Amino acid sequence: MDVKAALLSLAAMFMTAPAAWTPAGTLHHHQNPRELLSSIHLLRPLSGSGGRPAGGVTCASWQFGVETHNVREWTTVPRSCESYVGNYMLGDRYRQDSAVVAAEAAAYAEGLQLGNDGKDAWVFDIDETSLSILPYYARHGFGVEPYNATSSNEWVDLGIAPALPESLKLYRKLLSLGFKVVFLTGRPEERRNITVVNLKRAGFKKWEKLLLRGEGMDGTAVAFKSSERAKLVETGFRIVGNIGDQWSDILGSPEGARTFKLPDPMYYIS
Ligand SMILES: *[C@@H]1O[C@H](CO)[C@@H](O)[C@H](O)[C@H]1NC(C)=O
Ligand SMILES: *[C@@H]1O[C@H](CO)[C@@H](O)[C@H](O)[C@H]1NC(C)=O
Repeated sequence: MDVKAALLSLAAMFMTAPAAWTPAGTLHHHQNPRELLSSIHLLRPLSGSGGRPAGGVTCASWQFGVETHNVREWTTVPRSCESYVGNYMLGDRYRQDSAVVAAEAAAYAEGLQLGNDGKDAWVFDIDETSLSILPYYARHGFGVEPYNATSSNEWVDLGIAPALPESLKLYRKLLSLGFKVVFLTGRPEERRNITVVNLKRAGFKKWEKLLLRGEGMDGTAVAFKSSERAKLVETGFRIVGNIGDQWSDILGSPEGARTFKLPDPMYYIS
């Protein structure tokens, strides 16, 4: 599939409204035990393609380990989980999981009392948080293929990454409430211009700061991002919220008053 076709199919996917999520919709109290038993059977986790488990565990269990940060420092998605991860990412589930995170973040933000000094900041990661690199990953095995910096940077440099719709909604909500948005990304400083173009094209029109990795800022994402957050705090900002798809976005003091973890079973950044 060429880039345009991948983007078109992704655009179609993002235009399909996700099924509305209601806590009450997940459990039916009126069900009799026999009905409940059959729905429990339906909840049996899927394993990889052809039902094969990944290294003795199901792909759903591997994903759980990844999202809870019990499984760390992994480099690629288990090969037998390619179709599982692909189905998760392109199906409703990824959107629904993201919607729950964004709704919790919005509810938390609505309950906050803002200072009158314009210093209440919310930190957003970029890739797989604000913008989606999924069109690229969909053509590269959903994280099964080893990371290829050349080809993934070529795609990033097209500046056509779509917004993650749930995050865009949260971003708009936060701006309307009066919070200042700070983008903090591991993308290098040399990609600032294309990142600005892409953010605006995707609907993220304004921000207080756009922080990229400058020259010489080597080391882990945890070290880089926590030191950038420390600088924000030193200049008087209160980091009321921090959202990312990687644990390295939300670990390391100062983390922010509350952190939110979006799903990402495709890659791991330490
Ligand atoms: C990485 O991507 C580049 C650019 O598409 C390609 O030429 C190269 O062969 C790829 N490397 C590997 C190891 O697949
Ligand atoms: C980025 O944009 C600025 C101003 O729009 C320009 O001066 C600069 O040369 C650009 N940098 C690159 C690397 O293209």
